[in-house]
Amino acid sequence: MNASLQCIWIKTYGCQMNQRDSDTLAAGLRAKGYTIVSNENDADIALLNTCSVRALAESKAIGKAGRLLKKKKKNPNYRVGILGCMAARLGKQLLQTLPELDWIAPPQALAKIPDWIQETLQKPSCCGNVLSDAGNFDFRCYEQALLPSPVLSIPIQQGCSMKCSYCIVPKTRGPQQNRPFASIIQEIQQAALQGTREVILLGQIVNAYRDPEQGKSFVDLLTAIQNIEGIERIRFVSPHPAYFTDELLQGLGRLPKICPALHLPIQSGSNRMLQAMHRGYTREKILQLVRALRTLHPLISLSTDIIVGYPGETEEDFEQTYDLFQTVAFDMAYIFKYSPRPTTPSASLKDAVPTVDTRTQEARNQRLLSLLNETSTRYNQQFVHTKQTVLVEGSAHRGEQKWFGRNLYNKKVIFEGTPSLIGSFQTIRITKATASALEGTRES
Ligand code: SAH
Ligand code: SF4
Ligand code: F3S
Repeated sequence: MNASLQCIWIKTYGCQMNQRDSDTLAAGLRAKGYTIVSNENDADIALLNTCSVRALAESKAIGKAGRLLKKKKKNPNYRVGILGCMAARLGKQLLQTLPELDWIAPPQALAKIPDWIQETLQKPSCCGNVLSDAGNFDFRCYEQALLPSPVLSIPIQQGCSMKCSYCIVPKTRGPQQNRPFASIIQEIQQAALQGTREVILLGQIVNAYRDPEQGKSFVDLLTAIQNIEGIERIRFVSPHPAYFTDELLQGLGRLPKICPALHLPIQSGSNRMLQAMHRGYTREKILQLVRALRTLHPLISLSTDIIVGYPGETEEDFEQTYDLFQTVAFDMAYIFKYSPRPTTPSASLKDAVPTVDTRTQEARNQRLLSLLNETSTRYNQQFVHTKQTVLVEGSAHRGEQKWFGRNLYNKKVIFEGTPSLIGSFQTIRITKATASALEGTRES
């Protein structure tokens, strides 16, 4: 290995899947002797793990890569790679904008990247290496141990075979592939031995999971994890409303380790828009599901994703979204302005359906954000004066002695403590609630 090329900085854009892929990559590179640094100025190699879901995510990464590549002028040995979803979408085309880029590799190639980086670094000049889509995803890369952590994200799927008309993910990550059941269980058992207490199962439609080897279902998986000693909490993102079966509802009632906090991306409250988006459910189905969930857990936390300004969205359609959001009273949400993604069906609607102008998009976005501010504050207020069990995750970066963890309902709780509390469950008496977090004091 070239001794001057050992310090790698990885920057992650996009979703939790990408974050977990970056952590896996870091583990693979560490195993080869590289040092992963948290400050970009300490690195001689920068890897950007990118996202294509909206235009803004891509332009940020391109801008960053451009600035990083300028470092080559002073240091010709400096290296920059673009990995992840944008590398899958644009591949070699990226070299037209960024000719000095050293590496381009899609998410499907994750397992191969550490070897490939090591090999290409042996060459006198590294520029323009492109790794192609490896076809079948090699899930074994997720079995290597990561740095110990009280909360661990566990990928159970790759890709997506749904046909949501606005979405680029099926193109960047390919069709849905499910990780073998045994590999998931093995990773979680191993993590439990290293101190992990909470797992978050990751996939684009987690509840459509099916074991490729023995056909076991998502609920079978949840049941098996329920029985793993040391794991106290189970979460999953994102379940798709169209795949929310009675079996899963019963599972939520039967398996106490599943946290009463669900992320249920609805995208819109207008049946006309839901149909145009090819989401496969109606607002009535959402309301029915929410009623069933609240019957199981009256306090359940419900969060969502919304797209405003989808082509053809009228004021009336938006009112339907506002109304559904208000009726359900989602206590957390990601609200996105529609961003046309090249090659998706909705991007080619351009002339057929009137687009929503930016100012209207912005106004709808703001209206939902202020509604969210009300619903989330109201939800969080109910915890004031209660005692919450919190799994301590780390420093709250708010002065030296502030630490944070989450309660069962996935709400961030900030309190005074010491680093030795990380990884333990603590009882916190809540004294204050805002739209985004709770604060409290530790009971001794
Ligand atoms: N698989 C998940 C979503 C993954 S993408 C699901 O189906 O729920 C994460 C979120 O990005 C989506 O829920 C959607 O709200 C948003 N999103 C996806 N494509 C988008 C686009 N073209 N413009 C704006 N937001 C988009
Ligand atoms: Fe995209 Fe739809 Fe798949 Fe979610 S379910 S990743 S929105 S295509
Ligand atoms: Fe995730 Fe963005 Fe890819 S949301 S799957 S990193 S396009």
